[in-house]
This record gives sequence, C-alpha cells and structure tokens, in this order.
Amino acid sequence: MSNKQVCAFLGDDASPEVMQPTIDIIEDMQLGIDFHYPAVGADAKSTTGSLFPEQSKQAIDAADATFFGSTSGNSTAALFYLRWGKQTFANVRPSQWLPGYASPMANPENIDFVIVRENLEDLYLGLEGDLEDLAALNYYSRHARANLADLGPGKYAIKTITERGSERVIRHSFELARQRGQKRKVTVTCKYNMLSTADGLFLDTAKKVAEDYPDIDFEHFIVDDFLCRMIAHPEDLDVVVTPNLYGDILSDGAAGMIGGLGLAASGCYGTDYAYFESAHGTAPDIAGQNIINPTATMLSAAMMLDYLDMQEAALRLRQALGSVYSEGRILPRDQGGTASTTEFCAAVRALL
Ligand code: IPM
Ligand code: MG
Repeated sequence: MSNKQVCAFLGDDASPEVMQPTIDIIEDMQLGIDFHYPAVGADAKSTTGSLFPEQSKQAIDAADATFFGSTSGNSTAALFYLRWGKQTFANVRPSQWLPGYASPMANPENIDFVIVRENLEDLYLGLEGDLEDLAALNYYSRHARANLADLGPGKYAIKTITERGSERVIRHSFELARQRGQKRKVTVTCKYNMLSTADGLFLDTAKKVAEDYPDIDFEHFIVDDFLCRMIAHPEDLDVVVTPNLYGDILSDGAAGMIGGLGLAASGCYGTDYAYFESAHGTAPDIAGQNIINPTATMLSAAMMLDYLDMQEAALRLRQALGSVYSEGRILPRDQGGTASTTEFCAAVRALL
C-alpha cells in the first residue's frame, strides 16, 4: 500500500506548539503518512516573494489532505484556498464531553453532538462595499419600508444562500447522522422567520433532502430558540446543520459547553478533499509559554486519520487522549490542571 501524503502548515503564534507535537505523535505511530511542509506567510514571502506561492498550492493539491495550524493573518491565503479553492463545503465540529473535561455545565455527561457548518457561502463570500454603490438599484426593504437610496452613507454585506450550497452540506449532515448511528437525528437551524427568503431556502432545501432519509429524524428551530435549547438540553442533539456564520458562532458556544476551545476539533470536507484544523485561533496571549492545550489539534488529527481510512489509529489516539483526561493527573491549564503542553503530549504518547 502506498503512503498517504499530508500537507502540514504549522501556523502562527502558539499554533506550532500544538501542531508539531501532534505530528510527532502521528509519525511515532508509523502509519505510513508522509508529511510535507510547504512555505506560507512571511517565510514564503522572504524566499519566493509571495505569501502563498504556486508551489504551496500545488503541494496542497498533490496531498490526500491538509493539516492546518491556526493562522493570524499571514497564511490566510492558504486557508482561503483550502476552503474555496478546494471547495470544502462541510465544516464538521464535534462537541463530545469526556470525563476530565472542565465543563461549566452541571450535567455534561451526555453532551455528544456535531455542528455541521456550511463553509463557503452566506456572509463569508466577502461581498461588502459602500451602500451608495447599490443606490441605483432602487431597492425597497420589505419591512423597514425604506429605499436603499435614502439610507445615506453606510456599508453593506451580502448574505448568499444557494440551493446547491445548501443541499450538499445538508446531505453531508444526514449521511453523518447515519454513520454516527446514535440518535439518528438532524436538526436544522437558521433565522428563517426574519430572513424568510435566504434562510427560508436553507430550510426548504433541508425539508426536501430529509425526504431521502426516512430513517433519520428531522427537526428545525429558529437559531435564537435553538441556542437556548442547545444550552438547556444539549443531550437531545445529534447532528446540527446551519449556514456559515451561525455555525461559526454556535460551534464556539458548543465548545464552551464541554470545556472550551482547547477541546474544539474541526474538519472541512469537500467531495474530493478535506483539511483539518482546530476551531480555535492562534492564542497569541499564551504563545511561547508551552501551556496551550493540544487536545483540539489532536482530535482534529484523529478526524484526519478517519478520513485517510486509518480508523483504528484514530480510535487509538482518541482513547489515549480520553485516558489521560479520565485519569486526571496530567491536565492542561485550561482544564484546571498544571501540565505544560509538553507534559500533556508526553502523557498521550506514552499510552500509544
Ligand atoms: C473559524 C474561524 C475563522 C472563521 C476565521 C479565522 C476566519 O473563526 O474557523 O471558526 O470565521 O471561519
Ligand atoms: Mg470561528
């Protein structure tokens, strides 16, 4: 069997402190994965004159998947390429509480759900500009009774929901509910009362897709109501699917419920590509201190191993992490422990 090829970007600020040890652990497991490290950001700029050179793009294309460290700006071109260039439309963000996680909830035991965030459209197209550029449209708001032209100076951002974009991410979510084989339920959430046209299309598309999955329960809630339910009864949820911006926000909230962003794994899937990156940022405030929690990155790596058809290795990595937490002796600071990043990684490694 030929080796799998993975493109790795270590990221900025504190990100390399969790990316490198995670890669070391995977290398240690001897799974037949070759890691490649294309240049990006300031390093790439100094050697090639570009923040995201053509060779790095080709390296991403040539790999089976990309393992991406959080970036604070310099490498965003690579991130945007991984999203729009590779059309990774389904951002899957699991929140599962494990014994040892410092959840702020009184009863976190049964929290085990996944938020699937549409990853390419909605307000994330970056279609923004000056209101006056739209004034000529003579466009009336249906409830504010205002004409765009009369609003005066301001800015706009366009929210775009397409049939194709909605359908593929919703289908991905139903497939995921089947594959998880747990509560076998998909919950759709967006603001379909206020945005009855755009978010209405997302909901209508979901209702249609649901007909193809009679074995999966389907429910929908308006996003504000959903958030209240997510906090009050997270144990009712299985797979939640939502447009981009709500998904960005809700998934951080879901991470907060199990114990914070240090535990928040994430994978972005297209039809023929996927990349994996913790949901958290670069943590500049703790960079260089060797205290960042590597769990989110390790769990994202486990999702990558699943994607690469290395389920057994993914399970082993998750079990090792789970054991370190349930044992509770060596815990990262954000989970109430005193372990350094290095100590925590060593504890996981020792169990593999
Ligand atoms: C995330 C992040 C990104 C997003 C930022 C860094 C652009 O918050 O992956 O959740 O909003 O998608
Ligand atoms: Mg985010």
